Formats: sequence, structure tokens, C-alpha cells
Amino acid sequence: MLHLTFLFENGEEFAGGGVGWPIRQLLPDISGRARSKLEKDIHDLAVTTGERVRISHVVNVIKLHVQNISQLAPVHHVLALWDGRGTVAAMSHDPLFLEALAERVGTPFWIYDASVLRKRIGQVKALTSPPKVQARFAMKACPATPVLKEMLKEDIWIDSVSGNEVLRALHAGYPQGKDPAKICFTADVFRDNAMEVVMNNDILPNVGSPNMIQQLADAGYQGPMSVRFNPGFGHGHVNACDTGGPSSKHGVWFEEAQAIAEKAKAVGLDVVMIHAHIGSGPQFQELHENLSRLANDFAAIVPVFPELTSVSLGGGIPHDYRDPNAEFPLEMLRDLFAKAQQELSAAAGREIHIEIEPGRFYVAPSATLVARVHDVKATQTNEKGEGATFCMIDAGFVDLLRPAMYGSYHHIEVVGKVDQPTEPIVIAGPLCESGDVFTRDDAELLEPRDLPRPVPGDLVTLHDGGAYCYAMASNYNSLGRAPQLWLGEDGTVTLMSRRETIEDILDLETEEPLSV
Ligand SMILES: Cc1ncc(COP(=O)(O)O)c(C=O)c1O
Repeated sequence: MLHLTFLFENGEEFAGGGVGWPIRQLLPDISGRARSKLEKDIHDLAVTTGERVRISHVVNVIKLHVQNISQLAPVHHVLALWDGRGTVAAMSHDPLFLEALAERVGTPFWIYDASVLRKRIGQVKALTSPPKVQARFAMKACPATPVLKEMLKEDIWIDSVSGNEVLRALHAGYPQGKDPAKICFTADVFRDNAMEVVMNNDILPNVGSPNMIQQLADAGYQGPMSVRFNPGFGHGHVNACDTGGPSSKHGVWFEEAQAIAEKAKAVGLDVVMIHAHIGSGPQFQELHENLSRLANDFAAIVPVFPELTSVSLGGGIPHDYRDPNAEFPLEMLRDLFAKAQQELSAAAGREIHIEIEPGRFYVAPSATLVARVHDVKATQTNEKGEGATFCMIDAGFVDLLRPAMYGSYHHIEVVGKVDQPTEPIVIAGPLCESGDVFTRDDAELLEPRDLPRPVPGDLVTLHDGGAYCYAMASNYNSLGRAPQLWLGEDGTVTLMSRRETIEDILDLETEEPLSV
């Protein structure tokens, strides 16, 4: 009988267990011949290591005996805790785990990591900890129900931009009503059911023009409202995201504050909130400067709105896609919000609440797109340009649009080949569309990425896909939207949404005659 000592990654040791100990911890359900075989493999490992075995090696042996996801998830969970990481975050990057998921749901698929999301939610809670400072979630970034439920649990309110987004927030459990207005509706156009949903569910509208105020009044809306301003400055992460200035379509021009106040008064509506979203660009410092400037500018117009109770400084906390572990000095924002709350209250002569509504920051790092390599092929250099190696994967811009739309960077890994030599590779998708390439620069040119050479069958992961990714997915080329999976902090995996099928697509088509 062997007496094993298990060596943990954090330097701790556990002596005295037999070969059955790790099995009881990790695969308690295994029995019969399968269990005997596993015991023998751990026994052989122990013999070769003089009865002192690294727990990670034991786990590798155990993984070879795992047959399905429901067995694998607890293994990873316990391993993560044993490793001293205390979270299951590493699971969503584990080759075996991803392969098991791919076998189960096919590729491509999305995997969301609850622990990563919760960490970001905690950070936003910390920076909105000063009194009278409230965080919302700009749900357009990722409107999936489990994400909304996580927000609701932490009393993070919602900024929605369509009637259907309001309905999704209600579906996730958010309450109707304006006291407080846990759901706010921000838009420059009332499309589809928007007006009806706002009216029927007692939702606070945040409108972007004098005409929209008139539309509210014409629809019979009564009650408080909010006005979105274009402060004349600010921009998003690329030029196409123009959130403030003469070329931005959003909101009411700042100098028209008096006119908008009069318009609201004329139709009998109280402006209880003023709002602007200036975006950030990738630079934290720039966001900080822009937010300070915005708070100052708002202080000047606060007296124009006698019923005002809140000022929203919008979203725009950046995420560093090239270095997802980069830490921003978020405490600077906390101090800025606390100061703005005091200064705006002083300007109004009464207590004013501050709101913020980030989207990207909460969710960007929480999801990974997992795709399969189907082919690797090359073009050759000629008078038109340099040849390239193309790695053809089954995910395309129907799944992750940002690189095709903005030339955005997403970190890419060939699963299980982390430490291998690299070469320049273009990662391209399956769409009949030459722009279906994930490795492009912001001038829309190919930008091959240094990656280990993939082979057909490998899995590829595209990281930081939680914000504006599945939310922008389409079924172009009649490809169904990929399934989304949720990795809970307890290591369990849930299918959040299934793969869209041909039946789903055809279901929208009709031959219904319209009498006009
Ligand atoms: C009105 C409004 N608020 C908040 C956001 C969220 O911005 P971000 O995801 O950059 O934080 C947006 C993004 O487009 C927006 O338009």
C-alpha cells in the first residue's frame, strides 16, 4: 500500500492519502472497472515519482478518465481551488474542457465566465460607492438574461435603448416604475414598440431632441423625463463611434438647454435627469478629463432644470483588449463621481444624484468565442502584395463583428499550443465575404498575428468577447447564431442560448397577403 504526498501549486503538501483520496475529491461517482483503472494509473504515477506527486499531474491523469462535461466541471472547480486561485476562471481556457464543450455543443460557441463578470461588477460597485452615486449597465453591450440577473443581484440599474431591451430587463426581473427608475430608456428614435413599452411599463424616457419631447406628449405621456445632451466633445474607441461633437447624431446640442427646458415645460413634462455619454477612446486618462469637463459643463446648466434630481455622466470605462489584466486607476473615477455629486448638488441648491452607465467594462473580458480550425492555406507574394498564411475557422463576423467593423483587436490563441514557436497567421472565417477576417488593423488591412501554426481540428479562442459581440451577431449567410454557455462559479456549465437553426430562420418567413 502506497502512502502518497500530494504537492499543491501553492507550495502546500498533503500527506497520508492513498490513491483513492484524489478520486474521492474529484470523481466521486466513478465506479467498477473504470475506477480500478483510474486507481492503477494514479498508482503508477505515484511509483514513478517516489510517492510524492504533484496534484496537477494527478488531475491530468484523472481528466483522461472523464467522459462528459458534468464530470469534468467539478474536476476543474476543485483543481482551481487547489491551485490557490480560488476561482474557476482558468477553466474557460483549459484545452480539455473546451474540447469537451465543443463535442457537446459543436463549434463555434461562446463561453461566459461568471467569476470574471462578478469581478468587474465588484469594481464598478466600488467606484460607485460614494453616497448618491448609482451605476447602471448599458445592456446593449450584452443583453443575455444571466448577465442581467447578475447585475440585478448587485442592484445595478439598466440603461436600455429599445422597447425590446426594456422587455428583456423586465424578463430578467427588473421592476417597472420611475421611483426609482431602475430601467431607463435612452434613444434618438422611438422605433417599433418603444413608445408603447415606455408608456405601459412606467419607464423613464431619456430623449435626444425637442421633437422627441413632442412625440412623448403627443402619445399622451405624462410624468418625469430625462434629456440626453451632446456636450460637443468626446469620442469612442474608434472614429466611427462619435459620441459627442458636431458630427455626432446623439442628443440635444448643449447650448440648447434653455430651449429644451422650455419645450418640456410647454408640454407639461418634468426634466428630472440630464445625461450625456461621451465615450472614452482607449485612454483612461482621457475619459477622466472628459468626465470632469462634462460634470463642470453640467453644473452650468443644472439651474435651468428646476425639477432635476439626477445627472448621468454616461458610460465609457475602457477595457484594454491588448492587455486584459491591465488595471486602470478606478479610484480616480470614484473620487471624481463623489466630487461631481457635491458640486452639482451645490449648483442646484439641493441634493443631486450621479449616475453612470458603463457597458463594455463590466462584460468585455467575461466571454470567449471558441472556434474550430477547418483549413490552413496560403497565398503567394506577387505584384499586388505579400503572400499570407490563412487559418480558416468556423467562426465569422456573424459571431464577432468588431474586427470586421472597426478593425478591433481581440487576443487569439490556438488552444493547447501556448508555448510553441510562432509565425504570422491570418485568422479568417467561413463567410462568403472577403472582409471576414479577425486579424485586421484599423485601416482594414490584413494584420497577420504571430501564432503557433494551427492544424485542422485545433480549437482557436478569440478573447474578450463579452461586449458588443454576441449582441451584434447576425445570421448572415443563413448561418445560425452560435450557442452561448455560462460557466458558473461552482464549475457548472449551463446552455444560455442554443444554436440558431434553419427552422428558426425560416420561421420568420411568411406568405401572408397584406391588404393595403
Ligand atoms: C447612451 C449610452 N450609454 C452607455 C453606453 C456604454 O458605453 P460603454 O460600453 O463604452 O461603456 C453607450 C454605448 O454606446 C451609450 O450609447
